[in-house]
Amino acid sequence: MADIVVVGAGTMGRGIAQVFAQAGDKVYLVEVDPRQLSLGLETISENLEKSVQKGRITPEQKQSVLSNIVALPDIRQVPSADLLIEAIYENVEAKLELFSLADELFPSDTIFASNTSSISITRLAASTSREDRFIGMHFFNPVPVMKLVEVVRGLKTSDETCQKIIDEARRLGKEPVVVRDFPGFVSNRVLMPMINEAIFALYEGVASRDDIDKVMKLGMNHPMGPLELADFIGLDVCLYILDVLYEGFRDPKYRPCPLLRQMVAAGKLGRKTGSGFYDYL
Ligand SMILES: NC(=O)c1ccc[n+]([C@@H]2O[C@H](COP(=O)([O-])OP(=O)(O)OC[C@H]3O[C@@H](n4cnc5c(N)ncnc54)[C@H](O)[C@@H]3O)[C@@H](O)[C@H]2O)c1
Repeated sequence: MADIVVVGAGTMGRGIAQVFAQAGDKVYLVEVDPRQLSLGLETISENLEKSVQKGRITPEQKQSVLSNIVALPDIRQVPSADLLIEAIYENVEAKLELFSLADELFPSDTIFASNTSSISITRLAASTSREDRFIGMHFFNPVPVMKLVEVVRGLKTSDETCQKIIDEARRLGKEPVVVRDFPGFVSNRVLMPMINEAIFALYEGVASRDDIDKVMKLGMNHPMGPLELADFIGLDVCLYILDVLYEGFRDPKYRPCPLLRQMVAAGKLGRKTGSGFYDYL
């Protein structure tokens, strides 16, 4: 059993807290927004209740997992940590500020991990005095269900840190894949150009929305079409990651489709706003 700090109780943080608590760790879940904190705890409790209903865990096990989680509004209240996982907004400045504060608060042997989808791990690590004990631990949504953890090695991440995080991922029942710290890592470098190309195909009138998605579902056996998937991820998130790829490589093949920019400007962000390529009302 270890002491784990999860910072941010949004979509990802609550799932990450749940999987560590289920593995028997003490989890300090730190969230600045009280509404998000209580929503996060509610989601975890509901997920566990579903497992009880399905007979996968007992009501006592559910209670024991919940009792492993300590919710806190301020990172300064965390008493100790073997591993800190950051899952706050995808904003470089906010992450740099958090990591430099955490660097002052925690002993030098606490490993720092970021769940960032696109920000350079090497850049985040440089805001701390523990670049060798800094790594990317990129979980996928929904965390309790998705098997993959992309383990991102920064330029100075040590072999020992990398091995510890591989072991941690396996202990959670996940499959780790180690990648180097380049824009988009592997997951988004492969996924986002596919989504962008589907948007270009729609923009150029190659086929209809439904037919583009149908081609990828029936022809490539994808569970969701790329336009449906873009709505699920959030069109603002897709645009942000494509811009990271475009800026990071300075290669025009990553230029975001003008239609994607236009939809984001119009506030059509996908499922979360009720409208994107599809309507969700
Ligand atoms: N949503 C996804 O599908 C997904 C998948 C993989 C990785 N990610 C990455 O995970 C991270 C979190 O994404 P999310 O979708 O969970 O975001 P989210 O907006 O749902 O949650 C972020 C939470 O962090 C909190 N927060 C912000 N600053 C904080 C601080 N200083 N201390 C404590 N809490 C703070 C916010 O109040 C919010 O509740 C991002 O880096 C994102 O790129 C997201």
